Amino acid sequence: MDFQIAPHAGFCFGVKMAIQKGEELVRAGHVPLATLGPLIHNPQEVKRLESLGIYARETFEEIRENTVLIRTHGVAPSVYEEAEKRGLELYDCTCPFVKKIHRIVEEKSAEGYEIIIIGNEGHPEVEGIRGWASTPAIVVESHEQAEKITIDRDKKVCIVSQTTFNYRKFQELVEIFTKKGYDVSVANTICNATEVRQKEAREIADEADVMIVIGGAHSSNSRKLYEICAKECENTHFIQTLEDLHLDLPKSVELVGITAGASTPNKIIEEVQNYVRINF
Ligand code: F3S
Repeated sequence: MDFQIAPHAGFCFGVKMAIQKGEELVRAGHVPLATLGPLIHNPQEVKRLESLGIYARETFEEIRENTVLIRTHGVAPSVYEEAEKRGLELYDCTCPFVKKIHRIVEEKSAEGYEIIIIGNEGHPEVEGIRGWASTPAIVVESHEQAEKITIDRDKKVCIVSQTTFNYRKFQELVEIFTKKGYDVSVANTICNATEVRQKEAREIADEADVMIVIGGAHSSNSRKLYEICAKECENTHFIQTLEDLHLDLPKSVELVGITAGASTPNKIIEEVQNYVRINF
């Protein structure tokens, strides 16, 4: 039996940067410090950060620290205003790919475009993006929703995507709007790291007899990786850590594929990889 790990499994550059910034601030004496929401969707990593003095707080009311880190997902302008009002020292770790979406949405909505965000309603990144639109933005995540939406014919439409959305699904949803005959301006804002990771996952899952996707239960990009892999390989497992893995592989299995979401630390990927290598 052989196994293959997706070359781009694990931390993306945005997450790496945010963690490095947090650690740098700790070294510079800004401890304890808070992040607005967990810096990363991985409970083990959140615990490690806590041990350094970096605490995940859900709301401003919970924040007792003077320094606050904005995570890669980004936030609405109202959050910066609130932080300023409260006299907090803010460090912005919004991923540059997300910042780019904020700029597009801000500009296009000011020009009178109707903004459609293809992404998951309620996801922090989507909520942040929504906040940059000067008019209410529409969030769409399914074909059914896209089919139902009607927009004033006089209006131009600007479509952006959550950075971690499934690329194929994004194209399909965009097509629904173009087929309706709207004057559409499309910005494919799925980040490159996501596209590469999804492509690799699809290719490996297509060949593999068993596929393992490692990621946090609340990690949107990890769940999408799971969806993609499960389509290609019916024996796909979604795990957070090695403890969740209960593999009983038949002799006929020739290839086990492994991939991991953008918030999965290397340590966990290595543990899973070693386990598969030693036990099968
Ligand atoms: Fe940024 Fe893409 Fe990672 S948007 S945070 S590089 S998944």
